[in-house]
Amino acid sequence: MKKIAILVILAAMTIGATAQDCCSKAKNETKKDCCAKSSETKQCKNMKTLVTYFSASGVTRSAAKELASIIGADLFEITPEKLYTDADLNWRDKKSRSTIEMNDKTSRPAIKDGGKVKNLAQYEVVYVGFPIWWYTAPTIINTFIEANDFAGKIIVPFATSGGSSIDQACKDLKAAYPKYKFGEGKLLNRINKADVEKWAAAVK
Ligand SMILES: Cc1cc2nc3c(=O)[nH]c(=O)nc-3n(C[C@H](O)[C@H](O)[C@H](O)COP(=O)(O)O)c2cc1C
Repeated sequence: MKKIAILVILAAMTIGATAQDCCSKAKNETKKDCCAKSSETKQCKNMKTLVTYFSASGVTRSAAKELASIIGADLFEITPEKLYTDADLNWRDKKSRSTIEMNDKTSRPAIKDGGKVKNLAQYEVVYVGFPIWWYTAPTIINTFIEANDFAGKIIVPFATSGGSSIDQACKDLKAAYPKYKFGEGKLLNRINKADVEKWAAAVK
């Protein structure tokens, strides 16, 4: 009887460990893919999501907060070590900070506290939001991506803009970081809850 009980406990532990492996150690495939295949524990299916964002003047911040509230995600703000002033953001000025940074693909504006997300390991999907600057993502987004390890996760770009699409930004990010998996990006100038839910549900 005792032996049977021990065997049952051992079997349960083995099943538990396998599920845990899927949840915590998916390597060449994302955890979402891994878990979808293996119909395992609740914990395994329960993917945690993080919404990160940089916002110079508040528009992307509002969009990020709304997005996080709709999809039930945690929030992380990418705060520049040196905040952008109105003069810094003047795109008509060839010598403004934003113009200089965007003309230099190697520029990596510093992020307050280094930009490393604590406990990043617990997240499988990470949304990265930003304002479109000169048709693409501000270079502080490069600083952020390079400060963290997104292996095994899905990065989902979103942006706000004065009208430009997010397409060039997505193209540039995918080309700069081919080792990472990117989900479909979305411009969130106007937020429609049903639309956002559909987009988020299709992330894979
Ligand atoms: C330096 C700079 C460049 C910009 N370039 C573009 C652009 O190429 N296309 C566009 O539609 N909007 C552009 N914008 C407008 C911003 O994308 C838009 O106002 C955005 O919503 C601001 O977001 P934020 O308040 O989170 O910083 C630019 C703004 C700045 C400051």
